[in-house]
Amino acid sequence: MTVPFARPDITDAEVDAVVRVLRSGWLTTGPEVQRFERAFADRIGTKHAIAVCSGTAALHLALEAAGVGPDHEVIVPTWTFTASAEVARYLGARPVIVDVRAEDLNIDPLAVERAMSERTKAVMGVDIGGQPADWQALRDVARGGKTVLVDDAAHALPSTLRGRLIGTWADLTAFSFYVTKTMSTGEGGMLVTENDAWAERARIMSLHGISHDAWKRYTAEGTWRYEVVAPGFKYNMTDLAAALGAVQLGRLDAMSSRRNAIARRYTDAFAEDSALEPPIVLAERTTSWQLYILRLRLEALRIDRAAFIDALRQRGIGTSVHFIPLHLHPYWRETYRLRPEDFPVATREYERVVSLPIYSAMTDADSAAVIDAVRDVVRANRR
Ligand SMILES: Cc1ncc(COP(=O)(O)O)c(C=O)c1O
Repeated sequence: MTVPFARPDITDAEVDAVVRVLRSGWLTTGPEVQRFERAFADRIGTKHAIAVCSGTAALHLALEAAGVGPDHEVIVPTWTFTASAEVARYLGARPVIVDVRAEDLNIDPLAVERAMSERTKAVMGVDIGGQPADWQALRDVARGGKTVLVDDAAHALPSTLRGRLIGTWADLTAFSFYVTKTMSTGEGGMLVTENDAWAERARIMSLHGISHDAWKRYTAEGTWRYEVVAPGFKYNMTDLAAALGAVQLGRLDAMSSRRNAIARRYTDAFAEDSALEPPIVLAERTTSWQLYILRLRLEALRIDRAAFIDALRQRGIGTSVHFIPLHLHPYWRETYRLRPEDFPVATREYERVVSLPIYSAMTDADSAAVIDAVRDVVRANRR
């Protein structure tokens, strides 16, 4: 039996929604996007939701709307995907990369505090695997509103901190609907905020810097007249993607409880094993379980993480590593002269993480096969 690392969860409802749009005569940004944005804003409980073509686009628009520019620094954790830091570079800003906390692999508020400078325009937290970062502490560090808080919530739909959904903690929050995420539009993302001015700016910049509902230009009630007010981007979401997203959003709670059940099964199976350290959910949090990041106790094993992954692959189980910290990638390391010893937690933890398959389309037989394979690899390689 083989279990891939990820597989999208697509039912007839998604297929029907996309076919309906295909037959409608309108494929790009239009009424489906508007409906999806409204439904998403209502689900999160935010005033604005702007649908775009990727999570990266949402992050870029967030920083742009917040006014990040070449004179600025943006504090980001080393434990993330490169998109979190690259968007600062799009705007000419300097990403200031900091270490994470061992318990949840999320940005360390103390490291943020140490990294704050006169140039700090934004602090970006990333809710790794879906576990909310310490947003209360990040708020306290962010100098009473002078520094903008941006949440890279690519993993955190739906996740809560102190009973409040991720999407309502930071000043601007970016979600991803990439194909491995808890809900998907193939490629896609959503930017949410309470701030009217930032939402207006992000909406304009998401479509070439055009100042008003450009899609209406091509409809019967539309007009040929439009104005360009800034050199914007081409980040709009299509109606095809939005129709898919609306159905996925409607199924989000059901898909989420499936991920929860798989995580519980894994943790029950691995908790007592001295070679394995299952992820923990910290107090006052719920997680989307976008990732299940298992840590190996390498001192209890005769193999390293790479060999562990290889052994699982030989048993038909797909895995991944989240993440190779930014400071270990040539571009970030060389451009900003980053040294592993400046990121002691991430450098150490990186050696022993493995992400196991976790997705709502997994069957009980799939998760049982993952558990059997992990146990088998541990048994064969215990020190
Ligand atoms: C933490 C994080 N941020 C941002 C992104 C970028 O999202 P997208 O692929 O939708 O651009 C990803 C990955 O997909 C991610 O894992």
